[in-house]
Amino acid sequence: MAKHKAMDSREVGLVMGLTVGKYFFGSDDLHYGLWTDDLPVIPENLRKAQEQHAALLLKTIPADVQTILDVGCGAGALAKRLRDKAYKVECVSPSGPLTAEARKNVGPEIPIYEAKFQDAEIAKTYDLVLFSESFQYMKHEISIEKASKLLRPGGYLLICDFFRRTGEERGPIRGGRRMEAFYETIKQYPFQTLVDEDITKETARNYELVNDFLDQVGRPTWELIFRYCTANYPRTTKVARRMFRRKIEKLETKYFQGQRTAATFSRYKTYRLMLFQYNP
Ligand SMILES: C[S@@+](CC[C@H](N)C(=O)[O-])C[C@H]1O[C@@H](n2cnc3c(N)ncnc32)[C@H](O)[C@@H]1O
Repeated sequence: MAKHKAMDSREVGLVMGLTVGKYFFGSDDLHYGLWTDDLPVIPENLRKAQEQHAALLLKTIPADVQTILDVGCGAGALAKRLRDKAYKVECVSPSGPLTAEARKNVGPEIPIYEAKFQDAEIAKTYDLVLFSESFQYMKHEISIEKASKLLRPGGYLLICDFFRRTGEERGPIRGGRRMEAFYETIKQYPFQTLVDEDITKETARNYELVNDFLDQVGRPTWELIFRYCTANYPRTTKVARRMFRRKIEKLETKYFQGQRTAATFSRYKTYRLMLFQYNP
């Protein structure tokens, strides 16, 4: 009998994000985007913000890089951009639905290791290992160790992701490794810091969009479903509400109490663009 494989709720969120982004904005990217001051935070600008994120990454890649391992490649949008700039790209992707989407997008010439980064068996080295908003999904001790093994001497580790601010509790927005713990770990390796830029302000603005969406679309839809169920299936709804009371409360607190804002994100997280050179 085939082994049952549970699906992580964050993976469900990513696939949903991709579906919505693709349908409404024609975007295959799965990151917050870089919202510079001149870019109004409206849905129509999401794609532009995501292109700015990609442009920032491309600008940060050092001139002597040819081969790149894109870890957690999402639906392959970034890998495609890198290939178009003549880099030789390979990807790692653990998620069934996202990997299938990435394969469709990048075609057969970009190999994809379908595994978690920590489990991927890769017997070669690269000029650069890239984590674009995927670093937070793994234990940083393991990612740093593994990335160091996959880099040629003088190669680079490029991380663009958010971390939890030191001294702060988790806050209402999930995700992010602890910033201070990351610094403690990386300093035990022969990595030299070339770039460490705080781009929290430009990425946090994405939450203005998220909050607006939850307020205008998420909450009314959620309430409508409940009203429909209560009106048409009162007894079943009452039982279900009682059974899943905690889960429902958690979900409502998380998504529909206006806590997912740019201000909350900036308070609890710090979004960094970081480039390290591996000099063993
Ligand atoms: C927020 S998406 C970012 C996707 C893409 N890099 C981008 O910038 O649009 C996070 C990605 O990390 C991947 N991921 C999650 N856990 C992972 C793991 N253990 N190893 C490798 N990738 C992982 C997810 O499948 C997803 O592709």
